[in-house]
Amino acid sequence: MTSNPVSIRIYVPKDACAIACGADEVVAAIAAAAARRQQAVEIIRTGSRGMLWLEPLVEVGTPEGRIGYGPVEEGDVEALFEAGFLTGAAHGLRIGKPEEHPFMAKQTRLTFARCGIVDPASYTDYRAHGGYKGLERALQLGPVEIIEEVKKSGLRGRGGAGFPTAIKWKTVADAKADRKYIVCNADEGDSGTFADRMIMEGDPFELIEGMTIAGIAVGATKGFVYTRSEYPHAIAAMEKAIQVARAHGMLGVNIAGSQHSFDMEVRMGAGAYVCGEETALLDSLEGKRGTVRAKPPLPAHKGLFQKPTVINNVLSLTAIPHILAGGGEFYANFGMGRSRGTMPIQIAGNVKFGGLFETAFGITLGELVNDIGGGTASGKPVKAAQVGGPLGAYVPTWQFDLPFDYEAFAAKDALIGHGGIVVFDEGADMAKMARFAMEFCSVESCGKCTPCRIGSTRGVELMDRIIAGQRVEANLATLTDLCQTMKLGSLCALGGFTPYPVLSALKHFPEEFGAPPRRLEAAE
Ligand SMILES: Cc1cc2nc3c(=O)[nH]c(=O)nc-3n(C[C@H](O)[C@H](O)[C@H](O)COP(=O)(O)O)c2cc1C
Ligand code: SF4
Repeated sequence: MTSNPVSIRIYVPKDACAIACGADEVVAAIAAAAARRQQAVEIIRTGSRGMLWLEPLVEVGTPEGRIGYGPVEEGDVEALFEAGFLTGAAHGLRIGKPEEHPFMAKQTRLTFARCGIVDPASYTDYRAHGGYKGLERALQLGPVEIIEEVKKSGLRGRGGAGFPTAIKWKTVADAKADRKYIVCNADEGDSGTFADRMIMEGDPFELIEGMTIAGIAVGATKGFVYTRSEYPHAIAAMEKAIQVARAHGMLGVNIAGSQHSFDMEVRMGAGAYVCGEETALLDSLEGKRGTVRAKPPLPAHKGLFQKPTVINNVLSLTAIPHILAGGGEFYANFGMGRSRGTMPIQIAGNVKFGGLFETAFGITLGELVNDIGGGTASGKPVKAAQVGGPLGAYVPTWQFDLPFDYEAFAAKDALIGHGGIVVFDEGADMAKMARFAMEFCSVESCGKCTPCRIGSTRGVELMDRIIAGQRVEANLATLTDLCQTMKLGSLCALGGFTPYPVLSALKHFPEEFGAPPRRLEAAE
């Protein structure tokens, strides 16, 4: 056997999903197989490209570019070496260049442009792929013009409510206080969502850059990333990147040699859904039990420790470097209506090709589920998709022409939320799904207001009676009435939006509740 001292680069994700699928074992097998052959290899751990059904996706650096193989199991490694995968040779698992795969080629990647490509701990890699261009421009512009760029971009909060980011920032910028904060909401509690986790694991400097720009814009010198204990890999990646950024003078005093100072740290919650609600999050961050605060005051006026605070989702903040680097208009050129820019959509549930798909607003739900997602993993017909997490409506297939747009979804009593899509096949029992929505609310309720705390428990009881076929008509009337009370009387969207999945399931699939079958409505 001849030794080959020319080192070949092999890229394997260390994203939590890839690790769960055996990426660490694959890395060990590759290292051992290379050592046996005296072949020098450099194994670089990246984030995920987002084609989750292909994880672990192993990529080899060849003169033609990176060639992917996936999903690779530990037991495949020897055969891959034998086939000559180090030169990009043919093999049953070869997918070609990942960026040319149809799932990737159809995307418009801004936020996720580097994810799966760079080493998330490498400052040099980040810089080499356009990192910190947004901050450089922000430092030239100054606070007022930064907010003007964000306004031009039309960016709306990606955490769920779709509130214009520039208005929030302007409110905090205008507030007079000795201290202000930037809080990144990385709680990511919605079912079927993983974009925040993926970007924190795959491109953590982007979030650091976005938060730093936010700090400069509003006059905040301290930032916190609030995430959950279920995200240990994201926490480790963020903490590492924060250390590296500090070492390069990009966090701390006089960042990048400017007169601005900004530093940040990661805080971990215990994983309560309600702690994603911004005011409960602030309580949790202050060390209290996460309970929703009555508004006003808004967090922008009195937030963390009663100081003016910007709270933004990870995806809102990671869009910021691109808005500053390319200009607000560049970002606003993507999208439709009042939904501007790109949205990292997460396709999950009973779906063949699940993953992260970043695209401009306007794509239809049907394209996402059927064309890109490939329909159900079970092979049975799709029945519905729940979009926007546990508080989002069930959208039936006959409404799949719905474009991804905040207003179009709202017009159908549906929600884009954090961009999570959970697909269900015809086997889903929609009455049980409605019961689950009420049960979820009863378990996760912070208990502050009666419509949610008591209403959700009564909702579960009603659903149990309906499912058991007891006085169905009367119980459905009470359920509808209860939903109205929860919608109008709850203090936050946990109680206020739980009726949406319940009522959408009832509206579109009444026969599964023992009610007369649905009549096709002209409006649909
Ligand atoms: C029950 C509940 C849970 C929420 N969970 C999250 C979450 O996990 N992540 C998030 O960014 N926003 C979540 N939100 C929305 C936040 O309250 C808030 O609107 C958001 O963090 C603002 O950031 P944005 O403007 O960038 O979207 C939740 C809201 C509610 C009512
Ligand atoms: S709606 Fe539920 S979670 Fe929200 S404040 Fe009321 S009890 Fe708490």
